[in-house]
Amino acid sequence: MAVQCMIREVGTHAGETVRIGCWLHNVRSSGKIVFLQLRDGSGYIQGVVVKSEVPEEVWTAAKSLTQESSLYATGVVREEPRSQSGYELTVTGIEIIQITQDYPITPKEHGVDFLMDHRHLWLRSPKQRAVLIVRAEIIRAVQEFFDTRGFKLVDPPILTPSSCEGTTELFHTKYFDEDAFLTQSGQLYMEAAAMALGRVYSFGPTFRAEKSKTRRHLIEFWMIEPEMAFVDLDESLRVQEQFVSHVVQSVLTNCRKELEVLERDISKLEKITAPFPRITYDDAIKFLQENGHDIPWGEDFGAPHETAIAESFDKPVFITHYPTAIKAFYMKPDPNRPEVVLCADMIAPEGYGEIIGGSQRIDDPALLEARFSEHELSTEAYQWYLDLRKYGTVPHSGFGLGLERTVAWICGLDHVRETIPFPRLLYRLYP
Ligand code: 4AD
Ligand code: MG
Repeated sequence: MAVQCMIREVGTHAGETVRIGCWLHNVRSSGKIVFLQLRDGSGYIQGVVVKSEVPEEVWTAAKSLTQESSLYATGVVREEPRSQSGYELTVTGIEIIQITQDYPITPKEHGVDFLMDHRHLWLRSPKQRAVLIVRAEIIRAVQEFFDTRGFKLVDPPILTPSSCEGTTELFHTKYFDEDAFLTQSGQLYMEAAAMALGRVYSFGPTFRAEKSKTRRHLIEFWMIEPEMAFVDLDESLRVQEQFVSHVVQSVLTNCRKELEVLERDISKLEKITAPFPRITYDDAIKFLQENGHDIPWGEDFGAPHETAIAESFDKPVFITHYPTAIKAFYMKPDPNRPEVVLCADMIAPEGYGEIIGGSQRIDDPALLEARFSEHELSTEAYQWYLDLRKYGTVPHSGFGLGLERTVAWICGLDHVRETIPFPRLLYRLYP
């Protein structure tokens, strides 16, 4: 009797007969031998069918298989050092589940729109599969980092009555007779959680109705948002550099094969170890002005600015102390220089842009109230948030890492649309 197994486990069955549920990825034939490239999601294995060694119907079945046909393949697992998996299957039986006709994604080149329209099938391609595996490893490493350092996972709500990052980019929906918005960031709720649990992090989807059509923007993306009581900006930056190093090194350790499929230059990732360089917004502006960029103090950076700054470093770089006027209402002004805030963005190398935004938060209730009126936010809607400063306020800091930009950087992809299984992009809601 053949044992049913997955391709990733064939090594534990060398010499035995196994049965594998799989799809035909590709096929090569040389007269009396058919080489089946089989995939089952867990890996790839070559099945060898020799005409003179199998019953006629097995040979006929092997010849009838088309790309993405589904089947059970039975055969003997043989060590084969020349194959990528180290094993090969000498096929003795084939049970066809379905012969697939006209699979739309062939090994030839396709345009991006065509691939995006067929995203549900495109996911089966080796490169797309590799990206999803790296994404899963990044999520695992994120949770490992925080879970082993005394942070508790807390889930903020998705439906919210008010905004976190400014009012222009919200998705609106009805909440019975009230108005509600899809969350842009769980941060404000995580601040409440930090006052209850000390160190917390969230991992969940966030939504921004931004009319941005760039390589870095998704409408729906996932964020990791840690929040820490009794932690200032400086210590938060130390956590951030340890965190990002841990994630990159985990991918290097556990996803070698996938990085190879993606043809990622691994030497660039090997350099990602803490500490990371820091420059102030002031120095970044000076640097840009000296290098031919026409940008005055007080203006926010665009993608070309971030890329120019990142090019000087082979690690992520923190840009700190942005002008108060261009940052969110909750950021704490520098006590020595209130025109800048105690904040930092982490800019990834190689032109991948901002992957983290974070800050120390305002802890003084009077100042927070003043900010509400400057930003025209209703004190009523944010009363609960003000309560956090009224009842035992403490210095605290937090940050948000964008998962998809991080995946794009680590995988070396030129667009975030390939970093998430079903991207929600400007003008794309299908499939
Ligand atoms: O800088 P942002 O807007 O920061 C916040 O939302 C804070 N409340 C986080 C916090 O302190 N808890 O967003 C954080 C990160 C960005 O650095 C970026 O990586 C990612 O989220 N991001 C996006 N990723 C994909 N598509 C978009 N439209 C994104 N907007 C932000
Ligand atoms: Mg930001």
